[in-house]
Amino acid sequence: MSDRVIDFYDRHPISEEQVLRAVGRRRGSRVGSPTAEDLFDFDQDHYGGLGAVEALARRAGIGAASRVLDVCAGLGGPARFLASHRRCRVVGVELNQRRAEGAARLSRLVGLAGRVRIVRGDATALPFGTAMFDACVSQEALLHIDRKLLVLEECRRVLVPGGRLAFTDWLARPRLGDREREQLWRWMAATTLQTLEGYRALLGRAGFGAVGAEDVSDEWRPILRERLRMFRAMRADTVARLGETRFEEYDRLYAFFVGLIEAGKLGGGRFTATR
Ligand SMILES: C[S@@+](CC[C@H](N)C(=O)[O-])C[C@H]1O[C@@H](n2cnc3c(N)ncnc32)[C@H](O)[C@@H]1O
Repeated sequence: MSDRVIDFYDRHPISEEQVLRAVGRRRGSRVGSPTAEDLFDFDQDHYGGLGAVEALARRAGIGAASRVLDVCAGLGGPARFLASHRRCRVVGVELNQRRAEGAARLSRLVGLAGRVRIVRGDATALPFGTAMFDACVSQEALLHIDRKLLVLEECRRVLVPGGRLAFTDWLARPRLGDREREQLWRWMAATTLQTLEGYRALLGRAGFGAVGAEDVSDEWRPILRERLRMFRAMRADTVARLGETRFEEYDRLYAFFVGLIEAGKLGGGRFTATR
């Protein structure tokens, strides 16, 4: 199960190298180390950029004193944004070793290692004691995990009483067919996709209260269209790092995914809940 996810992100167009190359191109001959702000156009691997992280931060009540856990942190972009804009301390947990190491290196590079700590680990068995965090956030990652209830129970366990969980994830719409689900699994390691009501029920079963669920599919549609355009614009980088075949394969599968969003078969949800 997790091998497929690890492989998908090992062969993903967004990588530490690609972020550094893009930042280097943007900065040209400017001297000195890049800042977290320099990275933000390139290091957010979710839909809606910094505004989407900000929306979760507001709903999770994150302030300077918050101890925050970012579940499935990727290259650490959202964690660095929260640390630099909300001035809080963030721990990011990430399954993929290359991504976890890349996230830690990028955080050191921009001088945020004191406030952003990256831990390699699995969201279904969080490597932390109980009640260690005031807020948990996660973006576009639970789609890869079949044991979603276990992840939610783990988030609840590590939150203090009254702590908030806020996350976004893909949603399955009624017309999503079995063959399309199967393709999403084979191509993008997406599994057991939930509906809005499905997630609401899972959050309740995990022991959360004050559950909020918003359908953000309409917000996502233009964002996803733009993301497909962005991946296509990254062709030269992707071919140089992963080869022509992988570029073509990724292009096909991402176009298929965006097509499902356009057709209303897939969507997105934003959830909040309190321990
Ligand atoms: C679409 S990326 C999102 C990264 C980050 N949340 C962001 O918004 O930039 C999904 C991430 O989830 C990670 N992931 C998938 N399954 C995981 C698991 N069981 N435990 C921890 N991380 C996982 C993947 O390796 C990948 O980095």
